[in-house]
Amino acid sequence: MIFENISLKRFNTFGLSIKADRLITFKLEENAVRYFRTHGVTDGDFMILGGGSNLLFIGDFHGTIVHPEMEGVFVEEKKEDYVKISCGAGIVWDKLVEQTVNYGFGGLENLSLIPGLVGAAPVQNIGAYGAEVKDTIEKVRAICLKDGSLREFSNSDCRFGYRDSAFKHELKGNYLITKIYFRLTTRPKLSLEYGSLKEEVNKLGASSLGNVRKIVINARQSKLPDPGLTGNAGSFFKNPVISISDAENMKKKYPKLPTFEDPYGSIKLAAGWLIEQCGWKGKRKGDAGISEKQALVIVNYGNATGKDIFDLSEEVKKSVFEEFGINLEREVEVIGIT
Ligand code: EPU
Repeated sequence: MIFENISLKRFNTFGLSIKADRLITFKLEENAVRYFRTHGVTDGDFMILGGGSNLLFIGDFHGTIVHPEMEGVFVEEKKEDYVKISCGAGIVWDKLVEQTVNYGFGGLENLSLIPGLVGAAPVQNIGAYGAEVKDTIEKVRAICLKDGSLREFSNSDCRFGYRDSAFKHELKGNYLITKIYFRLTTRPKLSLEYGSLKEEVNKLGASSLGNVRKIVINARQSKLPDPGLTGNAGSFFKNPVISISDAENMKKKYPKLPTFEDPYGSIKLAAGWLIEQCGWKGKRKGDAGISEKQALVIVNYGNATGKDIFDLSEEVKKSVFEEFGINLEREVEVIGIT
């Protein structure tokens, strides 16, 4: 379907009232293939938009937006200890997590309630509560926007990192993800090392996939503002990753600094803590504010513009740099600022 001059309010979780010149949706992969074979994309006035849960539009988008709506979750192969499933890019992420947990397939439970669509999950390698989606992805199927050809990217082709993948770099803007293949386990080994996850699960009795999902949902609901009620895009910044020796030096000056070992061999700091120490938690400038629940989240209390949110984020960034010498990197993708 093609829509002209369409509002993007329901396509961005900041709830910004902005418009796009054109929005094209595809339910079927073959229709998208046909479209891109004849309308190969070459210029920059084009973007792919999933659930819009990690984006900040500074203004209207003058170009074409492609929105995947491919559905279908299929069991491709089932062996004694693992199962391979495929899932259309247009499925709501948490619906997939719910289904896999209900079937007793392990791997996605810690990623419960993350907003957005399945197709966006590999792009920024979504992660929460000690898990990252990269550990379950076998391959990603996508259409080349230049010529409509289909390609499958293996896990290593995706070059996953912390909130990062090749889809944010060399593959950016060139592929429409249509389907993801996951390898999940039928003998779940729960990952309960994050925070008080283990204690909380034990309180519920059995350590089961369903209980992990429950605890993660509770934690998210109590710590993160609901984008359905207050516009936001989750963490606005990434947690900074620094060397072990830099972290030791910082600890001398800030003994309470929370530090976490990073799976990639460095130290991860809590950006939320740094922002809170600078006095930003709960602060508001007009309708743009820093969440009072989690300082890493910037919220739209109603009528903030993309520019209001961006300007506030730059002020936060500046004060964290002045206090700690740490340059916060955005997790949210800003559209309209180069
Ligand atoms: N903290 C504060 N003040 C705050 C927020 C956090 O002091 O306002 C400190 C606390 O010391 C806490 C530590 O930061 O111990 C970690 O906080 P939390 O467990 O809430 O996690 P986070 O590091 O702030 C990351 C992800 C979230 C994910 C949670 C849980 C990033 C950028 N964010 O946040 O992901 O839900 O862990 O795993 O990695 C998202 O990406 O949108 C997102 C919400």
